[in-house]
Amino acid sequence: VRIGIFDSGLGGLAIAMSIMDRLPQYDYIYLGDSKRVPYGNRSQAAIHEFTIQALDYLFAHECLLVIIACNTASAEAVRHSQQEYLPKNFPDRHVLGVLMPSVEAAVEVAGPGPIGVLATASTVDSGSYVRELQKRRPNVDVRQAAAPLLVPLVEAGGLKYARPILADYIDLLGPEPLSALILGCTHYCLLKDLVREITTTPVVSPDEVVPDRLEEYLCRHPEIERQLARRGERVYKVTDLGPGYADLAERLTGRSIPLELTSL
Ligand code: DGL
Repeated sequence: VRIGIFDSGLGGLAIAMSIMDRLPQYDYIYLGDSKRVPYGNRSQAAIHEFTIQALDYLFAHECLLVIIACNTASAEAVRHSQQEYLPKNFPDRHVLGVLMPSVEAAVEVAGPGPIGVLATASTVDSGSYVRELQKRRPNVDVRQAAAPLLVPLVEAGGLKYARPILADYIDLLGPEPLSALILGCTHYCLLKDLVREITTTPVVSPDEVVPDRLEEYLCRHPEIERQLARRGERVYKVTDLGPGYADLAERLTGRSIPLELTSL
C-alpha cells in the first residue's frame, strides 16, 4: 500500500516534493484536482464534496494514508471526513491535513504576541486556524487575511511582481509585530524566501513542517508504517491536463513531473 497526497491542483506538488525528499523510500500517488482548481473561493460544502471524491479515489488506489496538502481542503474537510466519512466508510484508513502541523509549529516558535495567517478566502472564512490556534493557546490574538492575488500570481510565473503585493497583505495583519506568520496555502511555499526578506517575524511554511510531522506520525504508528510499500514509486494524477500544466508543475517544483490524466 502507498501514501496518497491530495491537492486542489498542482500547488500541492511543492509540499509533495518536500515529503518525498524526506521519506523517499515509500510509494506515493499524488492527485491534483486540476479540473476544478481553485478551491480557495468555494463553499465549504463544495470543498467537502470534492475532498470526499478524492479520498474515495485514493483509497481505491491502494492508499492507507492520505495527506491533504491543500490548506483549503484541510481547513474543514479533514475534520468532517475524520468524524463521519472515515468511521463509516474506511475505518482502517487515515487522513492527515496540513493545518495542524502548521498550527503546532507556529505555537512552538511564537512568543506571546499575535499570530498571523495568510490563506485563501475559504480557509480564512472557515475560522479553522483561529479555532485550532486558540485550542492550543487560549486568548491568542490571531490575525488572518485572505491573499487571493498570490495563487494566480505564482501560477502565472509572476514572482517578480510579488514583493509589493505580499507587503500589502502582511500590512493587513496589523501594525504591531507578529510573533509568527503562517503561510496557510500550498502556493505560498514558493514565496517563503521573499516573505522572510520582507518581515523578521518567524515564518511557518507547510513544506518545511509537514514532512517532520509525517515522519513523527509514522514513528508513533508502526502498525501503519509497517504496511507501506518501499519501492520508491511515484505516480502523479491530475483531473485535467491542459497545455501549460507540465510547465507549471516544473516551475512549482524545479523538476520535470510526469503528469497523467485521470477522472474521479
Ligand atoms: N491548494 C490551495 C490551498 O492550499 C490553493 C489553490 C486553491 O485555491 O485551490 O489552499
